[in-house]
Amino acid sequence: MHEKYNVFMEYKILNNQIHSLIDPALPIISNLSNVIAFLFHELPNLNWVGIYYCDLEQKVCYLGPFQGRVACTKIPFGKGVVGTCATKKKSMNIENVHTFPGHIACDSTSKSEFVAPLFQGHKLYAILDIDSDIYHRFSLDDIVFLEGVAHLLSCLISNEQNSIS
Ligand code: SME
Repeated sequence: MHEKYNVFMEYKILNNQIHSLIDPALPIISNLSNVIAFLFHELPNLNWVGIYYCDLEQKVCYLGPFQGRVACTKIPFGKGVVGTCATKKKSMNIENVHTFPGHIACDSTSKSEFVAPLFQGHKLYAILDIDSDIYHRFSLDDIVFLEGVAHLLSCLISNEQNSIS
């Protein structure tokens, strides 16, 4: 119970910090870059956090702002964890990337991965990609928090400024 409460409080604080980091008057890339850096440095056991922009016509995801080692620059829809997320348009928690068919190993230390789609209105805009160097890194609490971050970024991208409070 206490542990659950602590996790809740921890994520509440992180959530508040992300809100205060975002300035809707800035270009979206500035906000995305800072949120990515924040997640990378504040959450433990992450080795890569970044954005892949989705080109809906070419059906390809292109590397955007990130923190971590040099990464794959181009991922076709349907390929790897990122491309599968672009096709399914749903967040995915991969507890062991080695069991995911077609996983693309940009960084060989990655062991688990969480991806969430970002939307501009109803249109797919990008994939938020988070890698960990440990298996089973993302708990249900982590997923709820990260899906909240993805929702916040989608609101920002969609310019629904009232949703950012
Ligand atoms: N592992 C991803 C590729 C991107 S890197 O993790 C940065 C995938 O399978 O799509």
